[in-house]
Amino acid sequence: MACTSAPSEDESDASSVMSTSTRFPASEATSATSHDWEMRSASPAPSVYSMTSSLRAASYRHEYGRGINNYSEVYRLPADDEEFERLDHQHIIFIEVMGKYPPPLPQILADDTPGEPKTCLDLGCGSGSWILDVSRDFPHCNTVAVDLVPMQALNMPPNLRSEVDDINLGLQHFYGDFNVAHARLVSSGIRDYEGLVDQMSQCLRLGGLLDLTEFDFRVYSVDKKPILTEGVSWFADWMNLCNHAVHRNGGEPDAANQLHRWVSRNSSFEDVVYREFWFQTAPWRSGADAATVRQNRISQVFRDDILAFLRSGRPLLLGSGLAEHVVDEVEENARRELMEARTRTYIRVENVYALKRRD
Ligand SMILES: C[S@@+](CC[C@H](N)C(=O)[O-])C[C@H]1O[C@@H](n2cnc3c(N)ncnc32)[C@H](O)[C@@H]1O
Repeated sequence: MACTSAPSEDESDASSVMSTSTRFPASEATSATSHDWEMRSASPAPSVYSMTSSLRAASYRHEYGRGINNYSEVYRLPADDEEFERLDHQHIIFIEVMGKYPPPLPQILADDTPGEPKTCLDLGCGSGSWILDVSRDFPHCNTVAVDLVPMQALNMPPNLRSEVDDINLGLQHFYGDFNVAHARLVSSGIRDYEGLVDQMSQCLRLGGLLDLTEFDFRVYSVDKKPILTEGVSWFADWMNLCNHAVHRNGGEPDAANQLHRWVSRNSSFEDVVYREFWFQTAPWRSGADAATVRQNRISQVFRDDILAFLRSGRPLLLGSGLAEHVVDEVEENARRELMEARTRTYIRVENVYALKRRD
């Protein structure tokens, strides 16, 4: 189910292949951006604003039956209660498969430097499940969560601050402030992911930890190749439409496949570690041995996450110009395919962590 390895030639090739779709109306990818620099408070001033209910309401708009952030034209997945619940469940599966934290994190956040509290930054925090864990597991640390919408947690730990900001606009106000900089599954809202890697390197203190996790908006076959042609799997067709839609909005859906290269060639980092995790999309394995039973059990929970993600994709796909009957057809067939658990497919999640050089 989960494995750790360097990407093979074949696997890195996945990123360079673009699927084509006959379902989209003809039009060029846009580089639609969020707000310009001028519209944001001047860095290095922190971008935080205090959260009144009217400000909270102003953070959202409704599209295609879902609550969407009102700030970025790039990120078009929902940011409503249903999506946050999905992210919370997904977080639990990630912990089971990937472990709670990358191995160096507990040592890096240890309470061992009198007079200098440790600090952790989570970019694109969503529901905040990851940064809430860090804030509670390391109560001596100061933690900061950034997203396009305010964090909704009812019980915010006193050491956690939530900021609303578009990280595409740069992170200058955070330079040199953090022992850990983390981002997970944000690529669909990022215009220049390699630039983000560089920005995050500058936010880190010397010896600090970078931790990035992404998936590539592809579905993989049982031989671990991305399914790029239509007609093999409805779920793969649906995901390829999402990949295309994210591109059109100006995001970087394939960033996962490039993380290792981008971090390795950034001279700020050393001790770069690459890990990949294969998530079975439905309980399609046969066998009664303990490993098979475990994989099928995890995949059942993961399938629920995917079924919710099919619903989350509607504003992204419909907002990209796809006709509703097309979205309905692909979504419904993908749902049926996953429930029948006959198509043997995977989602590939890639993780890179590295330390900021001390020299
Ligand atoms: C799929 S969710 C993942 C949330 C969380 N990192 C997790 O793993 O559960 C992506 C989150 O990134 C945020 N995001 C995407 N692009 C962003 C941007 N440019 N600036 C700030 N947040 C962004 C979205 O608002 C959303 O909450």
